[in-house]
Amino acid sequence: MKKTLLLLLIMVGPLLWSAERTADWGPTGHRTIAEIAQKHLSKKARKKIDRLLSGQNLAFGAAYADEIKSDPRYRYINPWHYVNITPGEKYDDSTASSDGDLITAIEKCAEVLKDDEATKEDKVFYLKLLVHFVGDIHQPLHAGRAEDKGGNDIQLRWFNQGTNLHSVWDSKMIDFYKMSYTEIADSYQDVSRDAFKAISSGNSRDWAEESRQLAEEIYASAEIGEKLGYKYMYDNFDTVRQQLLKGGIRLAAVLNDIFG
Ligand code: ADE
Ligand code: ZN
Ligand code: ZN
Repeated sequence: MKKTLLLLLIMVGPLLWSAERTADWGPTGHRTIAEIAQKHLSKKARKKIDRLLSGQNLAFGAAYADEIKSDPRYRYINPWHYVNITPGEKYDDSTASSDGDLITAIEKCAEVLKDDEATKEDKVFYLKLLVHFVGDIHQPLHAGRAEDKGGNDIQLRWFNQGTNLHSVWDSKMIDFYKMSYTEIADSYQDVSRDAFKAISSGNSRDWAEESRQLAEEIYASAEIGEKLGYKYMYDNFDTVRQQLLKGGIRLAAVLNDIFG
């Protein structure tokens, strides 16, 4: 009896774990945003970042904040990957989570990177987190509803495989596109100086609000149990591409401001 129970736990345990764990733009989304940012860094910012990362590119560290989710020492960072804003309320007027959220996370990263007293080790850590979180704030469902964990609880089917709405937006569409992060980053038309300025105007609160509004449309566009596939891709992939571009440009602007 005991043996059967143990066997069952071994078999079902990983399933329970994967259901519990929520994720982000997959690595390709995060790396694409980092790569676009890399292309738009000022000379001064590029030099300082190169020195901090010992020549490694921004894309390399872009998924680090997800990798450390497996390490209990960093569990406190889990709530920093998203922000849930009540519709009709401004972020600043609503009660902020005491555990932190995307907005406070981005502020914390910028603060350490601007601090002359901070150690190199801390700067490298928070730089990788910043690259990741500016990415996350552009995944619309990372500014989704609290009650369904940004769509993580909305189960549906993607090309006949069981998944959830959040995951479709994190990675299922991007993975279906079958391009590497460098290929996606190279696939945009050049961004003019004026366009760069227009896209990078505002701050993380504005970018979260923009994502929240997109999230509302996304919630309205899919139902629990729905079968999504080619049509959903056709209707929504432009939005994914646009959010990746905006994320990359805004990340470059944030880094140019910090290191410029
Ligand atoms: N991932 C885990 N919880 C979340 C939430 N409440 N909103 C968005 N993404 C999440
Ligand atoms: Zn996610
Ligand atoms: Zn994340």
